[in-house]
Amino acid sequence: MIIALNNKSNIEKEEFKNYLEELKTIRTNETVIVCPTFLNIGMVSNLNVKLGAQNVSINENGAYTGEISASQLKSYQVQYTIVGHSERREYQKETDIEINQKIKQLLKNQITPILCVGETLEERKQNKVKEIIEREISIATTDLTDQEKSKIIIAYEPIWSIGTGIIPTNEQIIEVFDMIKTAMPNSNILYGGSANENNIDQLKQISTIDGYLLGGLSLKVDKLKVFLEKLN
Ligand code: PGA
Repeated sequence: MIIALNNKSNIEKEEFKNYLEELKTIRTNETVIVCPTFLNIGMVSNLNVKLGAQNVSINENGAYTGEISASQLKSYQVQYTIVGHSERREYQKETDIEINQKIKQLLKNQITPILCVGETLEERKQNKVKEIIEREISIATTDLTDQEKSKIIIAYEPIWSIGTGIIPTNEQIIEVFDMIKTAMPNSNILYGGSANENNIDQLKQISTIDGYLLGGLSLKVDKLKVFLEKLN
């Protein structure tokens, strides 16, 4: 399984040193990917887990103040990068077209994109889940070959589930995973949104889940360990 840890805008420099020590005590056969803030990425070395980023520039190196390019990420041994997280779509007004540009930059630099898709509660109530998921995937993967598409990991993150403690029913997750599988037959698909050590027993009943994108739980390594133990 793929377990991606999204630290979001959390953990300061000194605290991150302790966090890395804690991560080193994790014993698991799963592929664990830590996605720290950009500032903390440079502090990671000799880690037992893989390294990811939370965002990337749409451009290559150049005059783009404040941006970080895919080739710069690669130079720090970043192997995965989250793109299109709902928080970026909402607060940074990131568009599907920009997400497509970011994915292209990542693939050009042999970094695996973790593309987040998901609906708001309003959209779910209006029966728009299929429309939203299909649109987000279709625009984000514009101009990509099937081979390139297969390299993308999709994270289904219902927006109403992120940080709320509420998770969808297994039936709801299975339904959306089937939609994603139809659009991206060769991609790994993760579930994200309030996944934790308490609800993993329910979530792990779903055979199509290839892994998890964890926000809040990524900050609590003791609980993360319980989660990883329960996965087996
Ligand atoms: P959460 O966040 O696990 O805290 O709900 C998941 C995410 O936003 O990636």
